[in-house]
Amino acid sequence: MTIDGLLAEIDRLDDSGADLEEILESAVGALSTMHPLFHWTGVYELFPDQVLRLGPFVGAPTDHVFIGVGRGVCGTAVAEGRNMNIPDVSRESNYLACSTQTRSELVVLIRKGDTIFAQIDIDSHELAAFDEDAVRLVQAVADRLADAYARRRVPAADSSRG
Ligand code: SME
Repeated sequence: MTIDGLLAEIDRLDDSGADLEEILESAVGALSTMHPLFHWTGVYELFPDQVLRLGPFVGAPTDHVFIGVGRGVCGTAVAEGRNMNIPDVSRESNYLACSTQTRSELVVLIRKGDTIFAQIDIDSHELAAFDEDAVRLVQAVADRLADAYARRRVPAADSSRG
């Protein structure tokens, strides 16, 4: 699948009123096939108790199903409100290992302004796997998923306005 095909598929599901889990699963499944160095591709969703919870993923099972904000690379991305591109995880003190094979990691936030809904997390068995093109690809998917979250999180009072 191409990036345009993936973005169109997210749009199609979003417009059809699919629930977020279905949209996330479709996006993660497609994204995981779109780069040869994406060895683990998943989404962590941010819950109101400030805990990230593992959603759909492709790759080896992980013990890190719940991650508190501030913990690990994933929790740090939320705490600091920024994406993380870690070229060598062995040099990262605040790192939670999912697999001994992982060498580099990318976290891209799914957000609208200051509101963080979730994040895309990708691990690679190669050092410094995430170049500009890889980051742009993941960012495009994250931005489209942010649209889907935003549409589903509109307060009822707003959506009922005539
Ligand atoms: N390495 C992450 C934990 C998630 S696993 O990579 C799937 C972290 O340090 O937060």
